[in-house]
Amino acid sequence: MRVGIGNDHAAVNFKNILKEYLEGKGYEVIDYGSTDPQAKDDYPDFGQAVAEALMAGRIDKGVVICGTGVGISLAANKVPGIRCGVCSDTATARLIVQHNNANMISLGERIVGVELAKDILDSFFSAEFEGGRHARRVDKITAIEEKYNK
Ligand code: RB5
Repeated sequence: MRVGIGNDHAAVNFKNILKEYLEGKGYEVIDYGSTDPQAKDDYPDFGQAVAEALMAGRIDKGVVICGTGVGISLAANKVPGIRCGVCSDTATARLIVQHNNANMISLGERIVGVELAKDILDSFFSAEFEGGRHARRVDKITAIEEKYNK
């Protein structure tokens, strides 16, 4: 699986650790993120880069990280077809896939510890979409996108 990872300056440390962690698990990790913790760069640029790579088929899943995980997820979710959830616990990381068919996950370096972040990624990557009634709801999210992206 090809995983795109993106981060702003607030999450360079986390990105480096989690990238190595995912590579150790056998994922091919493509880095779209900032490499300079001193840079005053802007999280939307990195959320957009990972989201567009995913929708273009260059990666299979996306992981984005900023200070809180919120800003970069908001940017990623503006790209049609992206379903990115901010996660600070493993249950949410599993459920955003099982119920929401999330194709990206977002983390906050200033919010969660690094060991928890690894467990969150494990939950996200091992979960599968359950379909059924959840597919109907996800389809409604897509319908909202289509209404406003004509
Ligand atoms: C950067 O200081 C910070 O605002 C950003 O990483 C993120 O937390 C925004 O949501």
